[in-house]
Amino acid sequence: MIVVRGSAELGGLEGLRRPGPLVLVPTMGALHEGHLNLVRQGAAHGPVVVSIFVNPTQFGPGEDFEAYPRDLESDLALLAGEPVAAVFAPTVADMYGAPGEVSVRAGRRAEGLCGAIRPGHFDGVLTVVAKLFGMVRPDIAVFGRKDAQQCLVIDQMVRDLRLAVTLVDAVTVREADGLAMSSRNRYLGPADRARALCLSGALAAGRAALEHGERDAASVERLMREALSGADVIDYAVARALPEMSPCATPLGGGILLAVAARVGPARLIDNVALRVDAQGVAETHLLAGWPATAG
Ligand code: PAJ
Repeated sequence: MIVVRGSAELGGLEGLRRPGPLVLVPTMGALHEGHLNLVRQGAAHGPVVVSIFVNPTQFGPGEDFEAYPRDLESDLALLAGEPVAAVFAPTVADMYGAPGEVSVRAGRRAEGLCGAIRPGHFDGVLTVVAKLFGMVRPDIAVFGRKDAQQCLVIDQMVRDLRLAVTLVDAVTVREADGLAMSSRNRYLGPADRARALCLSGALAAGRAALEHGERDAASVERLMREALSGADVIDYAVARALPEMSPCATPLGGGILLAVAARVGPARLIDNVALRVDAQGVAETHLLAGWPATAG
């Protein structure tokens, strides 16, 4: 496993190019099974480069940039047991230069959900992802469905900026009791860890309502919100139409994203499930491929 500890060493990746695609798995470190599953998915396509960079521009004032867990050595030890060709761990100076430099402004898909609660967050995500694409020049990049809006916002950037990279979305990896794995789960003490189950519980409640024939988005959202009552702050509990995350028609149908975000103790947590709702019933679905063509 090659470890590239700064942009000056990026030439070390050249030996991984051709034949076949180069795969990038962007992360902020504090790696867990969800990240490792992205790596394994990516390895089916070609040599995998994992980037590890806690990106300052996607954290807002008062958010957890300082507290975000950083432990490069244990991340490298975890990745050494996985099909990883190289790790790219740039510094802030590698990624960001003088004030006033160019950045990416996220489009319409960033307007609601986390984009509304965390102003500027997706601009920061897109800016760093575009830089990583420019530096590593992957053919394929793998992202987790756990951050569904992030996947969809990056998909819109790739389409609109005509970037030559194919996106793959990988399934959300969960703890045995249903909690979606997240680097931020480390913030949870035992009592908050137990309460955090209300997020996956809310999605299960929304899904069960759909399975029982409910087709009114407002009713599904009300049920999810009730199930989240154990959280300290509910940021949102919504049913949205995929892939644009626009409000659902009534009766709802087609690709539907159920998405929740809530604060539990010190952690702000998100979770979602992408569903296809049709005459056959309700089934879990992918996020990125196969939707009718959208603008751009
Ligand atoms: P991070 O939160 O470290 O997540 C890196 C990747 O792992 C993302 O694609 C995320 O969706 C995926 N992921 C996280 N938890 C997962 C889980 N339980 N199951 C499946 N995939 C999971 O997302 C970011 O970093 C950053 O915003 C980044 C894209 C790296 C840009 O800075």
